[in-house]
Amino acid sequence: MAIEAFAPAKINLTLHVTGQRDDGYHLLDSLVVFADMGDRLHLADGPEMRMEVTGPFAEGVPTNDRNLVWQAALLAGWTGLIQLEKNLPHGAGIGGGSSDAAALLRAVRFAEDASVLGADVPVCQYGRAARMSGIGDIVDPVAGLPPLHAVLVNPGVHVPTPRVFDALKTKENPAMEALAPAPSMGAFVRWLNDQRNDLEAPAVATQPVIADVLKALSEVARGGVVRMSGSGATCFALFENAGRAELAAKDIAAAHPDWWVRDCLLS
Ligand code: C5P
Repeated sequence: MAIEAFAPAKINLTLHVTGQRDDGYHLLDSLVVFADMGDRLHLADGPEMRMEVTGPFAEGVPTNDRNLVWQAALLAGWTGLIQLEKNLPHGAGIGGGSSDAAALLRAVRFAEDASVLGADVPVCQYGRAARMSGIGDIVDPVAGLPPLHAVLVNPGVHVPTPRVFDALKTKENPAMEALAPAPSMGAFVRWLNDQRNDLEAPAVATQPVIADVLKALSEVARGGVVRMSGSGATCFALFENAGRAELAAKDIAAAHPDWWVRDCLLS
């Protein structure tokens, strides 16, 4: 049987680091949403595991058990051909491999705990707006967010997640503030602007070009929310409508032809 699966980009609208466990893992408090753009999987049941990768970011993607999708298939007890169209930059703070793995798990109807595959996998398995806490293993649905028009920008640098966590100076930071249910766009943007991504400063220290990305987004976002996602390097800005997001994406792409720039809808 052939199955198509969509692996959306994951965006951390907030990412608060609230502590560190004895085993080194960090405690997180994060509002996560998903984009209407991402990778695509085509799965065909068969007796053997095989993997093919195409798409603009295919280069360097492993086609063996080093790939998280392959590991997800093993966990779910599924075998066959996995064709992955890699449209998202990897090592980029937007889910990448975690979302691919979660898409396979959803497609083969594996609904059990898959946190062994990585901290972002449970929230990607859920695949809708959620508050992620614990070390990523606790996922609480968040309903009633307004649709968010966004521009995503990645400057093409890899940011190793462990290095960013290591560079974080203060491990115990305040959790997210309470968010009123079904906020208006204005109230939501005000709330978001008061929250943080605690990994932004250590990521900028690791890859200073992230500061250039944040500056370029701030110039077009005119006071709107501008922030890094995950451990970077992808950053986002939010806009009032699709038209403004599209124009902003065109401006940034024209000024920085070597950056990956996309406008999209987050929900
Ligand atoms: O779970 P995942 O493979 O995505 O995590 C990559 C690395 O990020 C971990 O090895 C760890 O260094 C760091 N991390 C962390 N605390 C978390 C999630 C990830 O310290 N909650």
